[in-house]
Amino acid sequence: MGEAQIAVEKENLRRYILRLRDRQSIGEVQQKSEDITDQVLLLHEYVRARGIACYVSKDTEVDTRVLIRSSLDKGKRVIIPVVKKGDVELFFSEVKDLGKELAPGTFGILEPKPEFVRQVGLDAVDIMFVPGIAWDRDGYRLGWGRGYFDRAIQKLPPHVTTAGLAFNLQLINRVPRDQFDVPVDMVVTESRVIRGHR
Ligand SMILES: Nc1ncnc2c1ncn2[C@@H]1O[C@H](COP(=O)(O)OP(=O)(O)OP(=O)(O)O)[C@@H](O)[C@H]1O
Ligand SMILES: [Mg+2]
Repeated sequence: MGEAQIAVEKENLRRYILRLRDRQSIGEVQQKSEDITDQVLLLHEYVRARGIACYVSKDTEVDTRVLIRSSLDKGKRVIIPVVKKGDVELFFSEVKDLGKELAPGTFGILEPKPEFVRQVGLDAVDIMFVPGIAWDRDGYRLGWGRGYFDRAIQKLPPHVTTAGLAFNLQLINRVPRDQFDVPVDMVVTESRVIRGHR
């Protein structure tokens, strides 16, 4: 399969899975997100992590706010990805107070207000929680189609564990793979933890 054809397949899958994801009620999203968070809090990679990187959820994505808040409560460092329009790379900023420091930025995603930008490298991170639209059991992911997380994961220090957060309905047989796609180490859904990649 050529790159152009893979791109078309990815686009169709994005639309299909987003429709399923958006069909869930707010209550369902909250309940499942809670179940996913509960599983994450028990992961040994999470328990021993001193620093986590985690996306700030939007719309019907797996909600990460409870995960971020309880990580801060436990004294872990929390680092969030930030997208700057026109940049192909994400940058990462440490957050200390979720309620106070963020405002909607590029693509409507919450990001630090200028006075709360604390750009840091990823050496302080032990586990990174990655957003995605669709996932497969090998940890391959479909994102929004800009390659931000492919680039970020590729550059992570090797000690960092990567974990996708997903609803079961976002799991598919096989995500179409391009050369530059990088799988995560595990995918956590509301009912299971799928491990064993990289
Ligand atoms: N490591 C890389 N270096 C340069 N370009 C890359 C790299 N990884 C991905 N890209 C580019 O990013 C574009 C989008 O890739 P892809 O469709 O896999 O995005 P995605 O994984 O769905 O999105 P995202 O990671 O932003 O959530 C591709 O056209 C590809 O050329
Ligand atoms: Mg990709």
